[in-house]
Amino acid sequence: MHAPEVLISEDDIQKRVTELAQKISADYSDTGDLVMVGVLKGSFIFLADLSRNLSIPRTIEFIAVSSYGDSSAPSGAVRLVMDVRGNIEGKDVLIVEDIVDTGHTLKYLIGIMKSHRPASVKTAVLVRKADSAKVDVTIDYLGFDIGNEWVVGYGLDFAEQNRTLPYIGIIDPTDR
Ligand code: PRP
Repeated sequence: MHAPEVLISEDDIQKRVTELAQKISADYSDTGDLVMVGVLKGSFIFLADLSRNLSIPRTIEFIAVSSYGDSSAPSGAVRLVMDVRGNIEGKDVLIVEDIVDTGHTLKYLIGIMKSHRPASVKTAVLVRKADSAKVDVTIDYLGFDIGNEWVVGYGLDFAEQNRTLPYIGIIDPTDR
């Protein structure tokens, strides 16, 4: 398999993550109870960099979901595999996702988070596949809009490969 072609460079990602962290730090400066909820597995690197660039107090939780069917052709049905461990009632929840494609997963996650009775729920997403959104879901902090390429790196995988690439690259899933 060829090395993925660079779509978003490491420098561009780091610059954008720093910008998002500054905006989040400013927006939550008066609340003091921010909980960042990373969606396994793909968000782990974005969550790590974003959280370390904040200048405000924050805690970290994780949640895991699974899509029914083939991930390259999502059916829209999402199942909760692991909920947050801590009590997030009354807190300000920021869901952290690597990618929004159809939007079904993020919409489902917002509902799950709201069921815990937090003070607020917002979303931070590194990349959005703008052309394929099938669900109207609000992204409060967005890194990049991309096309319909299959992307890997910075947490994103193809068949569990290439998650730890420092950049976001494009692969051809048929080139194996
Ligand atoms: C990806 C991503 C989102 C979901 C987005 O997860 O992290 O959770 O797909 O797709 P949607 O907008 O069409 O619902 P994936 O199933 O690849 O799992 P992973 O994070 O473990 O790689």
